[in-house]
Amino acid sequence: MTQLRPIRYRSRALALGGALWLALLTGCGNAEKADNDGAEGSGSGSGQEVNVYSGRHYNTDKELYKQFTAKTGIKVNLLEGKDDELIVRLKSEGQNSPADVLVLVDAARIQRARQEELFQPINSEALNRDVPANLRDPDGSWFALTRRARPIMVNSALVDPTSLGSYADLTNPDLKDKLCLRNRASVYNQSLVADILEQKGTAATTTWLQGLVANVKTPFFTSDTPMLRALGRGECGVTVANQYYLARMLSDQSKPEDRALAEKVTVVFPKPTHVNITAAGVTRHARNPEAATQLIEFLASPSSGKGYAAANFEYPLKGFGDNAILSGFGTFEASPVSADQLARGNREASALMVETGWK
Ligand SMILES: [Fe+2]
Repeated sequence: MTQLRPIRYRSRALALGGALWLALLTGCGNAEKADNDGAEGSGSGSGQEVNVYSGRHYNTDKELYKQFTAKTGIKVNLLEGKDDELIVRLKSEGQNSPADVLVLVDAARIQRARQEELFQPINSEALNRDVPANLRDPDGSWFALTRRARPIMVNSALVDPTSLGSYADLTNPDLKDKLCLRNRASVYNQSLVADILEQKGTAATTTWLQGLVANVKTPFFTSDTPMLRALGRGECGVTVANQYYLARMLSDQSKPEDRALAEKVTVVFPKPTHVNITAAGVTRHARNPEAATQLIEFLASPSSGKGYAAANFEYPLKGFGDNAILSGFGTFEASPVSADQLARGNREASALMVETGWK
């Protein structure tokens, strides 16, 4: 059985906020004993520890961290929090931060952390092999661990899925008052717009945004799941949402009412489809950068990476994984725009959203 217990740190900063430290141990939940019982501590890193700040909150992640400990002997201490809070926290802790690894969701956020100089570049043969070049920082400051797509989703009673081949088709005047969108505060939408911006340029993206805003059924949503429920109920005919929200609603983790609504939704992967990432980097002041690198290498490796992606109905770095719900959605051609380009385009994308009235 998994046993989690808070870890005591002297740093006062760690008592802040709603984040939670968890020590991840196998078996009895006692570090000293665990190091001696043969199930872990057998690797060369026995006695070492690596501290992870993570914006992800999935139990299966913890299982993987424990597998890492079993394989290497390096103990993982996990602090979970909201992505933006973790960035603020790491920044305020400065060189006193206990964090060795920072895991964040969305290219724009990981780039923000990079701009705050929270990472140190690492050069790892394994990471350069396992993480495709378009899914890692060109200087080695961060590396993607999973991929998530933001396809078009349709209620086929209201909108013909075959009428939608690309994000450009969302501006078709036939969709007036049928298009539901999450608000512009969503980093997911900012990254989607940055993707189009990189592919089409400022003028075409502005026209596209004007077309979207003209079709929007207001109010804008504050998160994806309520938007998908509205789509299932027929209050919206079409939207864009991350695939894992729909997959969760379809899974046995969700309530029967949600499952019934999700069953009314058809996923349409536009050509090409916008793809974003979960990514990790070694922190600038890491006390154990070697162990931190080893952990990121482990999580990005094809075998562990599959489990890390599956934890949140995400896609592995290469291919589409073997989850039955995701397989039911079909496969997609990923946008050629790199995670680094998405991040760099965020500022202009956000400004264009304001300019064109995306609330
Ligand atoms: Fe999300």
